[in-house]
Amino acid sequence: MSNATEPLPGTSDLWEPEVFGWLELESIARRIFGRYGYQELRTPVFERTEVFVRNLGNETDVVQKEMYTFEDRGGRSRTLRPEGTAGVMRAVANLGLGPGEECRVFYMGPMFRGERPSAGRRRQFHQVGVEAVGCNSPWMDAEVIAMLVHFLEALGITNPKVMINSRGLPEDRPAVAQALRDYFQPHLHEMCDDCKRRFETNVWRMLDCKQEACHKLALEAPHIADLLGEESKTFFRHVCDGLDSLGIQYEVNPRLVRGLDYYVHTVFEITHPALGTEDAIAGGGRYRMTMPGTNTPIEGIGFAAGIERLLLTRAGLGLAPQSRPAADTYIVAAGAAAIPAALKLAGEMRRQGKGGRVLADVTGRSMKAQFRSANKSGASKVLILGESELAEGTVTVKDMANSTQNTVKREELLDTL
Ligand code: HAM
Repeated sequence: MSNATEPLPGTSDLWEPEVFGWLELESIARRIFGRYGYQELRTPVFERTEVFVRNLGNETDVVQKEMYTFEDRGGRSRTLRPEGTAGVMRAVANLGLGPGEECRVFYMGPMFRGERPSAGRRRQFHQVGVEAVGCNSPWMDAEVIAMLVHFLEALGITNPKVMINSRGLPEDRPAVAQALRDYFQPHLHEMCDDCKRRFETNVWRMLDCKQEACHKLALEAPHIADLLGEESKTFFRHVCDGLDSLGIQYEVNPRLVRGLDYYVHTVFEITHPALGTEDAIAGGGRYRMTMPGTNTPIEGIGFAAGIERLLLTRAGLGLAPQSRPAADTYIVAAGAAAIPAALKLAGEMRRQGKGGRVLADVTGRSMKAQFRSANKSGASKVLILGESELAEGTVTVKDMANSTQNTVKREELLDTL
């Protein structure tokens, strides 16, 4: 039976030193994306349900099985965001983007999907992502992928495996879908139930099914890129040219389709052996969306990386964050009269930035018990305020590493720290 104080399955509490890994990652993201001219955007954690249903696609696993959707007290349908792109596009549409105008943003924060939990699959997980909205050039796709590789390298995640593919334009879809149906039809009886359903609703997803029998068949399926129209083929060639000129290593994976319906043209995913599974650490692509209440589609290109998966990958590479002690300086107050003096001293130290992380013991416990706590805190210095120190206007300073101690005048103490 699960303990009532445990976090729900697929969610976690985050303690130090794990928090340090997050802070470092977030600051690296701000630094790298800032260099490419991206600005930070924070959108709400919940939105009108239609923002997601309409854009992610009715037939996707995310919309069909994974969204946390609820009715608010007014009976309106709301959804905890399962991903960041749709909310960003809603925000951009709300701002209003004129013809030819671009908007480049990055974001980070919690996302929610009701998936079966495992180490790399969470119900509350976190993404760091970027979206370059309003730019329709294939060269932009190459730059966005290169920026993702740059970000990973800045995190110490070198040699990521970059896989790309093209899904072409909406007008290419009927021909591709027909070719895929013609190919899969005679084998349908050998395939899993999900694929049987996908055959009717979303035949593209049959290409990336993980079931062994289905995967084997998908290996021989026609390549989407060969079936696209000229415009889509040229677009994809320019993306590849852009990556070549930026020196980015990549592999064209003809079975990469991605799980969301909003994509057009470029799709890509990144894996790394240090994650320990074949799950992607990041994925993205070019997309078109039309927001509820508007009729003009907006196009963009972007990606999102799972923060938990990035940190697992870093840990796999020996880059886990180090812990630090709870305190650097611990003030022991011996006797009731010393407590206000200890508090005052701690306050002055913190305001002047002396002594690092300062803890003052205000419990009035025995010296022995206070020293036990001081030891446990990991503090390298203990300041002792007792009856004699108060009477003489001094403080006893104990160095915990070599167990030496000396007495310093109270008014000179802060200068000696
Ligand atoms: P996605 O592939 O669904 O794409 O998610 C991106 C990344 O989020 C994944 O590669 C993975 O690292 C992480 N992720 C997804 N689900 C989970 C989960 N349940 N637990 C832990 N990590 C997870 C998107 O979300 C698109 N919005 C990406 C995008 C941006 N496309 C264009 N712009």
